[in-house]
Amino acid sequence: MCGIIGVTGEQDACALLLAGLELLEYRGYDSAGISATDPARDAETTTLWRVRAAEHAGSIERLRALVADAPQPVGSAIAHTRWATHGPPTVANAHPHLDCTRRLAVVHNGIIENHRELAAGLDERGHERTSATDTEVLVHLVEEQVATGAGLADAVARCLPALRGDFAVALIYAGEPDVIVVARRTSPLIVGVTDTAGIVCSDVSAALATTRNLFALDDDQVAEIRPGTVVVRDLAGRRVEPAPMTVSWSVQRALKGGYADFMSKEMHEQPRAVGDTLLGRVHADGSTEIEELVIGDDDLRKVRRVLFAACGTSYHASLVGRQAVERWARVVADAEVASEMRYREPVFDEETLVVAVSQSGETVDSLHAMREARRRGARVVALTNVVDSVMAREADGVLYTRAGPEIGVASTKSHLAQLAMVEAFALHLGRLGARVAGDELARAAQSLLSLPAAVERALARFDQYEAVGHRFADREDFYFLGRRAGLPVALEGALKLKELAYVRAEAYPAGEMKHGPISLIEPGAVVVVVATRSPMWEKVIANVEEMRARGAVLVAVADEGDEETARMVDAVLEVPHVTEICSPVVNVVPLQCLAYTIARARGNDVDRPRNLAKVVTVE
Ligand code: AGP
Repeated sequence: MCGIIGVTGEQDACALLLAGLELLEYRGYDSAGISATDPARDAETTTLWRVRAAEHAGSIERLRALVADAPQPVGSAIAHTRWATHGPPTVANAHPHLDCTRRLAVVHNGIIENHRELAAGLDERGHERTSATDTEVLVHLVEEQVATGAGLADAVARCLPALRGDFAVALIYAGEPDVIVVARRTSPLIVGVTDTAGIVCSDVSAALATTRNLFALDDDQVAEIRPGTVVVRDLAGRRVEPAPMTVSWSVQRALKGGYADFMSKEMHEQPRAVGDTLLGRVHADGSTEIEELVIGDDDLRKVRRVLFAACGTSYHASLVGRQAVERWARVVADAEVASEMRYREPVFDEETLVVAVSQSGETVDSLHAMREARRRGARVVALTNVVDSVMAREADGVLYTRAGPEIGVASTKSHLAQLAMVEAFALHLGRLGARVAGDELARAAQSLLSLPAAVERALARFDQYEAVGHRFADREDFYFLGRRAGLPVALEGALKLKELAYVRAEAYPAGEMKHGPISLIEPGAVVVVVATRSPMWEKVIANVEEMRARGAVLVAVADEGDEETARMVDAVLEVPHVTEICSPVVNVVPLQCLAYTIARARGNDVDRPRNLAKVVTVE
C-alpha cells in the first residue's frame, strides 16, 4: 500500500510527480502530498516546501490545484499517495511528514511496528509530533542524527537498525537540496538515473516516463540519489552495486485506451493475457517449456508435495492450481492463505515445493510465507505478473504470467493469467512425472490452448451478463455456490461482488450449504451457482433444487445452449463449454462482469473501491 515517487534534477518536478502519483494511485488513494527543496534559497537556513490533500480519490487533483497556485522551483522532491494504516486519512496524517525544523521530509510505505516506543523517546526528548502516523517518528530520528553533523544518507543509515517492521522510505533535506535518500526493508522501492536526473519510486510504471535505467534495492540498503548518479551502501557503509531491473512494460499499456475505466479495459484484455501466458510454454502435443522456472527437470521430478500460498484472488487461483496438480501430475497438492501459513509452523522438506502466487509480487503476507517456507527447507517458486518484483527476486524459481500492468484494484486479467499459469505448471509437472498417460496430457494441453478463444467468446456475451447484473443490482444478499472446479469460481465471484459493489456475498461449496448456511436462505436471496457441465453437474443441480425450495432467486453460470439448466433457474450467464479443470478461466468471466455492472449501477468507482489498495504491503 502507499505509493512513493521522488525526483531530482528535473526542471518540471511537480508535473512529473503528479503524473507519477496518478500512476501509483492504485496503491492507495486516501490522501496525497509533495515536498521539495528550493535550491535558490540559502541551504543553511531555508525550510522545505510542502502541499498535502486528503480528498479520497480527488487528492491528486487537489494537489494539482495547490501546485498551480504556488509554483515552486525545486531541487529534489518527494511525493506520496496514502492508504491509511495508522491515523485516519486527514491532511495532518498525509505524507510527506516534516521534522521539528521543517528542513527534513519523509514519505513511507509499510509499517514501523515499534513506532509507539520510538515516539515515547522522541516525546521525552522534546520533539513535537504533528500526526498520528507511525511514519513521523523516522523523520525526527533522522533530525537528531543530522543535528550531530551527519549527512542525510549517513543519518538515515544510523536510524534504520532501530526500526522494526517493513518499510520503504524516501527523504529530502533542505541542507542538501539536490539529494534524495531512500532505504527499504521488504517493501518495494526502485531507483533510476538519467544523465541529468534521478528518480525513486514504488514501482516501474511511474518511472518509465523518466528512464528505463532502473535498479532494485535489497533489504537494508541505503541509496543516495543525485542528478545523474546513484550510490548504494549497506548498513556498514560498504558500497554495493544495485541490481539492474528488467523492464518489459510500456507506458501505453498502463493507460485506459478509450475504455470507461481500467477494469473494463483489463477485462477485455483477458483473452490476450491468457494467450500470452501460455505462448511457447504449452504445446498441442502435451509438451511444455517454462524457461524462467530455473529449477531443473530432475529436481522437479523429486517434488512430492506442492503447496500453493497466496491471498485474495491469487488464493482462488491457487485452489485451481491444487486441482490441476493433483489431476495432471498426481502429486500431493494443497493451497493455503499465505497470512495463515506463515504462522502455522508448517512442516516442509526439500521434496516440498511452495508456489507463492501474487499478481504484484509484493504482497507482504505472501512474501513472508515464501521466506518462511524456504527457512523451513522447502524450495520456493514465485508465480507473479511483475518481472523482478520482490518475490521474483527472492524465490528459487519464477513462473511469470504475462498479463501486462493491471491498474484496476480488482484483479481480472491477472487472475485469468494466473489460472492459465498454474495449469501450465501442473501440466509441466505432469509431463515430467509421467504418472498420467501422454494422450490425456495432450488433451489437457489442447484444452488449455483453446482458452483464449473461449474467453473471447464469453466476453462477447457482456450484454447478457450486464442485463442480469442490472436485474439484481438492488439486492443485498448474495450466495455463490460451486463444487470442485466450480468452487474457486464461486469464491472469486463473491469476492469481486464484495470488493466492488459493497454487497454482502457469501461463497460456499454447494454441498456444504445444508450443514448450516442454508438457514440463511430466505425468499428473495440471490444464489449464483456455477453449473456448467462436468461430472459434478447432477450434484450441483440437486443443491440448486434445495435453494429453490427455500425461495431463493437462482442465477446459473451454464454452458451455452444448456436449456435443461436454464429451465431450472431464474437467470442464466452462458459460457462456452471447456473441460472442467480449465473451466474456471472461462466461468469466472461472467461473475467479474456481474460485479462490475452491479458496482457501476450503484455509482461505485470500480477502479478505486473504498478501503482497498491494489498492493497490500502491510500485514
Ligand atoms: C482481488 O481483486 C484483490 N485485488 C486482492 O484480493 C488481491 O488478489 C490480493 O490482495 C493479493 O494480491 P497479489 O496477487 O498482488 O498478491
